[in-house]
Amino acid sequence: SDLSIWDQTQEAITFLTDSLPESLQKPQVAIVCGSGLSGLADTVQADPRVEYDYASIPHFPRPTVSGHAGKLVFGLLGQKVPAVFMVGRAHYYEGNSMDQVTFPIRVFKLLGVDTVILTNAAGGLNPDYNVGDIMLLNDASFLFPRKPLNETGLAGVHPLRGPNAEEFGVRFPPLSDAYDLDLRRHVHQTWKEIIPSQKTRKLHEGVYAFVGGPTYETRAESRMLRMLGADVVGMSTVPEIVVARHSGLRVLAFSLVTNNAVLDPVPRGDEQLLQDKDAGELNAILEKGKATHEEVLEAGRTAALDMQQLVTKIVVKAFGH
Ligand code: 6GU
Repeated sequence: SDLSIWDQTQEAITFLTDSLPESLQKPQVAIVCGSGLSGLADTVQADPRVEYDYASIPHFPRPTVSGHAGKLVFGLLGQKVPAVFMVGRAHYYEGNSMDQVTFPIRVFKLLGVDTVILTNAAGGLNPDYNVGDIMLLNDASFLFPRKPLNETGLAGVHPLRGPNAEEFGVRFPPLSDAYDLDLRRHVHQTWKEIIPSQKTRKLHEGVYAFVGGPTYETRAESRMLRMLGADVVGMSTVPEIVVARHSGLRVLAFSLVTNNAVLDPVPRGDEQLLQDKDAGELNAILEKGKATHEEVLEAGRTAALDMQQLVTKIVVKAFGH
């Protein structure tokens, strides 16, 4: 589109505010539901509740991946707090520009949202993390290891590259304090209070490495990311966080560990040990830990209830008075 981001955002806002009932016009919180985590939006009761297909909202990006629906849901979270939910998101690997991937965040800003809560499915790199654990982001890294270094990550592709959208924020925003400490304290407190399954599911706090995707990491890449200090790796969320912070939104972000990235070196063909093994055994060694989209979605389904309960309680605690 030839329109500036500001003008595109205005068109989306006009469309939404023209059709939303009064009671849902001013959401306080925006919640982005990641892979398999769309159940969060289902906790919102009817009346008042309004849904939009992304396709119906001017300039809104549409996801193409199965398991990622595409709708915006307005309603009251915990029957109390006006909220807007993104069920499914558009990713960079689908061919979207950074402007498109982060467009919804700017719509939320102009709707008057105060806080964005982002969720995603991610691969565990930290050996202490198990499938089904939840990690609260307290930092992230902006890496695109599969693109030439001179145009990527710390040196290039970035959602704020280009003329600064002054209406939203400053040219050089800091990211050293991007994950609201007050909200993170709420999360740990709430986790202690509510989750009986915390005996099996752990809540961590750590670093998310963003990669472009769509391939899962090679073993060498997973080892590299771990060495660089990342605890989980995934293909979303960081561009949205950058744009949210640019415009002064408060951010809280969760990763659900849906699988463990494979850090062990590939079994070597020349190893004596392997010579006695049959084809089935060798195959099992290679299959161990291989990430699949189905496994990612399944882990999301079983952890969804805990995640829903956690987010609902936090929002009601922080905004429900
Ligand atoms: Cl292992 N890697 C990436 N890049 N994204 C993921 C994942 C792994 N698991 C879930 N999402």
